Amino acid sequence: MNDPINLLDYEAHARQVLPQSWFEYFAAGSGAEITVRENCTAFDSLRLRPHVLVPVGQRDQSITLFGRKQATPFIIAPMAFQKLAHPDGECVTARASTQAGATFVASTVATCSIEEIADAAPGPKWFQLYVFKDRGVTRLLVERAEAAGYEAIQVTVDVPVMGRREADVRNCFSLPEGFSAKNLESAGHGSMNSDRVESGPSLYTKYLFDVDLSWNEISWLCSITKLPVLLKGILRGDDASRAIDHGAAGIVVSNHGGRQLDTALPTIRALPEVVDAVAGRGIVIHDGGIRRGIDVIKALALGAAAVHVGRPVIWGLAVAGEAGVTRVLNLLRDELDNVMALCGTPTVKHITRDLIA
Ligand code: FNR
Ligand code: LAC
Repeated sequence: MNDPINLLDYEAHARQVLPQSWFEYFAAGSGAEITVRENCTAFDSLRLRPHVLVPVGQRDQSITLFGRKQATPFIIAPMAFQKLAHPDGECVTARASTQAGATFVASTVATCSIEEIADAAPGPKWFQLYVFKDRGVTRLLVERAEAAGYEAIQVTVDVPVMGRREADVRNCFSLPEGFSAKNLESAGHGSMNSDRVESGPSLYTKYLFDVDLSWNEISWLCSITKLPVLLKGILRGDDASRAIDHGAAGIVVSNHGGRQLDTALPTIRALPEVVDAVAGRGIVIHDGGIRRGIDVIKALALGAAAVHVGRPVIWGLAVAGEAGVTRVLNLLRDELDNVMALCGTPTVKHITRDLIA
């Protein structure tokens, strides 16, 4: 295989180097994987209306999130079990994120702990929270993230139960021997086993996550931390508005990369409605289907303050560790730089909704 020259090439390379069932865990969506595909194809069907004769010699893609400036508009999406892609897992990804001028989001069910990641990477980090039925466990995770210097909490709200990912069912996927959900070891919830009908993560969700999570808990979560709280997994304007009313500082427009409700609408189609409903009362982040710089400019044009980069980061990690993640992020940066020049939008502030036909 030739050297990868775009993020899609990294996926093809990762397929070669990862054991099949691990690759499929990372790649999988639920059901017929309609949403997985449409998260990407919905970008492809949007057309751009570029400006001409704008001086673009000086280009700057930096943004500011919660008062913190970063060189790129990229946030590494929270993704579980990164040690399956590389022996040092999330610590490596977080280091590359810092290096590339992005923000790293650590998953609740990471294979490195909150503290290990903080020690490995000095750059901006947020923590993704799954709400456990056990409120003590939930609260301790938030306290640990705050103590370790994480700067925001993303509460994932689209996993009352896990979507049925047929690849994982077929593979009886579970977290293999020697790996654990590091943050939950002290609570006795480090391991995850499958049975004949459900994958390990699916059973873990069923027994431990709060299936009755409601708006009341959102207010409670906002009350136990000084950090900004974002809700991840919102696809509707009315829910977004309600989130802000309950104290959220931001929204992550997400369908969990098509891993939860299949045929949920692609996120780039949901984004404008959410941006309008939030109406500047919080920040809106786009999550899902970002594979090229051209996708990033479309999400920014439709009102996203930043974009999550998901699966391509895992592919970079699997193919070449820290250098691979760095290269994935730098490719995306360079592609965005190129399309910013071609659109006549030298800074992120120039990227407005009228850029989309
Ligand atoms: C995820 N995602 C996820 N989300 C979350 O809130 N907590 C988590 O632990 C995980 N874990 C996870 C593992 C893997 C392997 C993937 C691919 C995804 C969802 C993730 O944050 C994001 O919403 C999607 O990955 C976005 O879609 P794309 O761009 O990766 O296709
Ligand atoms: C996933 C969970 C862990 O999508 O969020 O695999």
